[in-house]
Amino acid sequence: MLNSDKPNNLPRHIAVIMDGNGRWATSKGLSRSKGHRAGAENAQKLVEYSKKLGIKYLTLFTFSSENWKRPKSEVDDLIRLLRYYLRKETSEFHKSGAKLNIIGDLSKLPKDVVDMINNAMDLTKDNNDIIVTVALSYGGRQDITNAVKNIAEDLRVNKINEIDEDLVGSYMMTGDTPDPDLLIRTGAETRISNFLLWQLAYSEIYFCDVLWPDFNSLNLDKAIEFYAAKQRRFGGLPNLQENK
Ligand code: IPE
Ligand code: IPE
Ligand code: MG
Repeated sequence: MLNSDKPNNLPRHIAVIMDGNGRWATSKGLSRSKGHRAGAENAQKLVEYSKKLGIKYLTLFTFSSENWKRPKSEVDDLIRLLRYYLRKETSEFHKSGAKLNIIGDLSKLPKDVVDMINNAMDLTKDNNDIIVTVALSYGGRQDITNAVKNIAEDLRVNKINEIDEDLVGSYMMTGDTPDPDLLIRTGAETRISNFLLWQLAYSEIYFCDVLWPDFNSLNLDKAIEFYAAKQRRFGGLPNLQENK
């Protein structure tokens, strides 16, 4: 646990690219599927811990629009895992006061899973202790393309007549969720992999070598300490008084 319960500069919104499940499993002689299971269990723990710390928004990249390229057997395993968690954990998740948002192109998912997702979102829609957004079949370019299409249509029917950054942001799948303050990517790769391209414009980025199933509360503390030490300037100058 971080030194004080409410450290200064706690990020309001943390986004996580939870990478490394496959390598974690392979290194232990297990199937990739076991790695995804361990990764999902870890995600649950980290949601709990984030809530305890007072993180208001947590966004988890669980399956990218590009991950559909993986072998059908792996994709099927992941869908089975999702179904299992929705069935088993939705009510506990609700009781814990967490709100679930799912973003991404769900049209490729089986109907029963989409129904469970909609039920879970509906059940938890008034919860406010932590807002957990799960990016599933999600791609940043797809999100932007989708926003452009919807804006074009709303312009055509005169629902809107001006476009500015706030308007574009509101058409992204993340809606009125504030942009991530901190992005964490586990699993040693140093790329964004088409995650929240619009929303990450000014996020602090923490890359770490730990494979996702091993990323624990101490690792999260470290990432938060990394964030707390940053001076966010958003293109301005530090100590504006002195620079007058
Ligand atoms: C992240 O772990 C989970 C998904 C992308 C579904 P990976 O499956 O990418 O794990 P590695 O990168 O192969 O170790
Ligand atoms: C990013 O991981 C997507 C998720 C963690 C869900 P990938 O393993 O798909 O990313 P690449 O292929 O290494 O860029
Ligand atoms: Mg990977």
